[in-house]
Amino acid sequence: MTLKEDILKLKVEKNALILSHLYELDEIQEIADIVGDSYFLSKKALESTNDLIVFCGVQFMAESAKILSPNKKILIPSNETTCPMADMASLEKLEILKDKHPNAKIVTYINSNLDIKAVSDVCVTSSSAKNILANIDEEEIIFLPDRNLGEYLQEQNPNKKFILYNGFCPTHERIDKEEIVNLKNKYRDFKVLVHPECNKGVRDLADFIGSTSELINYSASSPFKGFIVVTEEGVLYKMKLKSPSKTFIKTTTGMICPNMKKITLENLYTCLLNEEYEIILHEGLRVKALKSLENMHRLSSK
Ligand code: 13P
Ligand code: SF4
Repeated sequence: MTLKEDILKLKVEKNALILSHLYELDEIQEIADIVGDSYFLSKKALESTNDLIVFCGVQFMAESAKILSPNKKILIPSNETTCPMADMASLEKLEILKDKHPNAKIVTYINSNLDIKAVSDVCVTSSSAKNILANIDEEEIIFLPDRNLGEYLQEQNPNKKFILYNGFCPTHERIDKEEIVNLKNKYRDFKVLVHPECNKGVRDLADFIGSTSELINYSASSPFKGFIVVTEEGVLYKMKLKSPSKTFIKTTTGMICPNMKKITLENLYTCLLNEEYEIILHEGLRVKALKSLENMHRLSSK
């Protein structure tokens, strides 16, 4: 039997559901039951009736599933998949911002750790933020940890005042606008697709800005035949699958999230076999963090 067959056999035996983020390796996306962006996966984990969920993504994604579904066993194939942007947010720095802006709502990107979610009013993802902000009455927003997504949301919501935390994603921040200008000059008919975690210089060159799944859907439904893709390279797998006749260009700098790529078929197999690594959360913090994720689901569908 091949490794893939072994994984599929174990999955059936254990009645497990395999979720994969769109930045995972092609072979992980191929074998997963459900592939999506962070918001979609958090919904699917909540809706699932499986007792065992294997989350192929970074730590905060698997943690979010556990926060929402404490009675399910949530596993992650590697316990080294932290998100550096999530690790940039500290409670101490957030306290300073809260003291300065006591009336502000704390709106936190789901790319954050448990302790930060526990003191947040509401979480957002890049695909749900627009709807959620439309349903928040408060004018002042402390937004963390991503300064780029926060700045983008400020541009979209000029009626609100955003206080931005100084975090960023190293994979998306690395891209320089000059490189996109050069690619645009070379591929003149191509549309530029950008994730909002990129900085303003890059976002301003975009034809379309959106979450990972929004970028994929845009490329599939657009009449254009070529795209310059300015987000983590994992999305190319789905883009090519959905639109085999279209052309997708990556940046030459290389946009790879090393943490997402730590999940392999090998550790997915041992994860299912040994039921490791299980996500275990501090119950007090989990209950507090649950409020911010429930608010995310409630306010995004109002
Ligand atoms: P999405 O919310 O678009 O899935 O993005 C998650 C992420 O980690 C982007 O870097
Ligand atoms: Fe974190 Fe960036 Fe990787 Fe997304 S791409 S998980 S924000 S490091």
